[in-house]
Amino acid sequence: MPHVIVQNCCNDGSCVPECPVDCIHPTPDEPEYATAEMLYIDPDVCIDCGACIDACPVSAITTDYELTTEMAPFEAMNAEYYRAVGSSADRDHPYADPRLGRKRPASDAATLRIAVVGAGAAGHYVVSELQSRIDVRAEIDVYERLAEPGGLVRFGVAPDHADTKKVQEQFTKSRAQKGVTTHLGVRVGEEVSHEDLARTHHAVVYAVGSLHGRTLDLPGAELPGVIAAADLVAWYNGHPDFAGLSVDLTHERVVVLGNGNVALDVARILTADPETFVGTDMTDEALVALRDSQVREVVVLGRRGPEHAAFTSPELVGLARTVPVVVEPEDLVEPSDDDADEQTRFYRTQKLALLRALPPASAGSGERRVVLRFGTPPTGITVSDGALSVAFDDHGAPGSLDCGMVLASIGLRGTSVPGVPYDEATGTIPNTDGRVLGPDGAALPGVYVAGWCKRGPTGVIGTNRFDARGTVDALVEDFHAGILRAE
Ligand SMILES: Cc1cc2nc3c(=O)[nH]c(=O)nc-3n(C[C@H](O)[C@H](O)[C@H](O)COP(=O)(O)OP(=O)(O)OC[C@H]3O[C@@H](n4cnc5c(N)ncnc54)[C@H](O)[C@@H]3O)c2cc1C
Ligand SMILES: NC(=O)c1ccc[n+]([C@@H]2O[C@H](COP(=O)([O-])OP(=O)(O)OC[C@H]3O[C@@H](n4cnc5c(N)ncnc54)[C@H](OP(=O)(O)O)[C@@H]3O)[C@@H](O)[C@H]2O)c1
Repeated sequence: MPHVIVQNCCNDGSCVPECPVDCIHPTPDEPEYATAEMLYIDPDVCIDCGACIDACPVSAITTDYELTTEMAPFEAMNAEYYRAVGSSADRDHPYADPRLGRKRPASDAATLRIAVVGAGAAGHYVVSELQSRIDVRAEIDVYERLAEPGGLVRFGVAPDHADTKKVQEQFTKSRAQKGVTTHLGVRVGEEVSHEDLARTHHAVVYAVGSLHGRTLDLPGAELPGVIAAADLVAWYNGHPDFAGLSVDLTHERVVVLGNGNVALDVARILTADPETFVGTDMTDEALVALRDSQVREVVVLGRRGPEHAAFTSPELVGLARTVPVVVEPEDLVEPSDDDADEQTRFYRTQKLALLRALPPASAGSGERRVVLRFGTPPTGITVSDGALSVAFDDHGAPGSLDCGMVLASIGLRGTSVPGVPYDEATGTIPNTDGRVLGPDGAALPGVYVAGWCKRGPTGVIGTNRFDARGTVDALVEDFHAGILRAE
């Protein structure tokens, strides 16, 4: 009875080294890991020992006989991955996590004083990577501008994704360890300066994420009712900066621009039964608004074809089990064959098959629904008689949709921290391998970066683990090279 990885896999790879038969892939050291939508268990090799279940921080692994009807599609998704990319038995190396089984640092190990700025996923993984080193003893100050830690795991991950949010328990444990002090409600760059932290610590690691939506460059983008999906997410999750956001749910339709996982999250939240969110991180303000909502249809406009849809298959499965999802059959053109790797081809084929299995657009009834459109780039937004109208190119013909709210879900961007270099164009902190670069392009001693503000706003929670590991490796190397100083 093999095990199965389901929707909320966070890719942090904790399960991988636990598997005695190496049947979980892609492993963090395999090239496919960087673009993997989730990890997969090879059913032909799994020996059903359960070791992976205990290691998973988000309860995303189950046995095939315990799969709920809702999670049933994941059994085939795990198996199909190996059919597409080859059996795990043919991989020639076991993955060994270099940090596992390490002892505590020797009592004479040098002490490193580190400030970590930002208590989101990346900040926490920096803390745990520092704690796993045997060659240094780390004393860590974590600074977080909000009164609550967790970053986007707390204020971004959808309220109905409770298992995913469980990863915060692991974060809390690492911050509770000896040598870590957490300073909540302290905004670095305002309440405390970069210079202050740099003086009293060997290194400052910025893990400040990307909270805001990218700017929509479209005629009409400035109209009231056009807001960033990221703002809506922060509002319903109770981020203090977004309380009282103007959210218009009085029209029967909302249009979402962009079709990444954030787009699917907001589409699902706006169409799901609001009672599912009772007792979650969703605020009372949002719950009341959703109960009063007139929204019946959310249309998600993707500017490219389905093969380039930015959402992942697990999230499409999750959306379709919550609300009716419809597609226009003419949008589902076969992807032109290209030089994509096996894994990318697998994802394209899988996505198209899942979309084709959805009911046709005409199947919509009076129920709430989500419509996914492809190859429909937006061209402008206008307002008339109190409603917004989104114009788009509908496969060469002009198309338009009336709605009460337009959500730009076109990716996120960071904000600068005073005293720290920042690249406005990419919304990230310029760096090489986590070492922050000054205006002359040279690494600034003692300043590092991790997570979304390092590499841009892509990837799931666990992606930040291996990203943080790279930063910590660079930092400790610099320490041993005598580059880092503290008062
Ligand atoms: C809407 C949404 C839903 C998502 N859902 C999922 C999901 O279901 N599963 C999944 O695996 N991944 C999900 N992700 C991706 C995941 O949340 C990110 O990969 C991850 O949170 C990025 O971590 P980070 O630490 O770089 O940034 P963040 O999580 O944003 O953390 C940055 C932290 O820095 C703090 N900060 C910022 N500036 C300062 C300052 N000047 N001083 C002190 N502190 C500061 C912030 O308050 C924040 O706490 C989602 C992302 C979004 C946007
Ligand atoms: N449950 C989860 O696991 C979960 C949930 C939420 C977020 N996340 C992760 O968080 C990261 C960010 O997600 P995201 O959805 O914000 O970003 P994303 O995945 O980068 O998707 C951005 C979307 O916006 C489109 N876009 C960009 N510029 C546009 C423009 N000017 N006009 C119209 N469309 C435009 C993109 O289209 P093109 O492809 O054509 O550029 C793409 O469809 C992703 O890695 C995601 O997987 C994960």
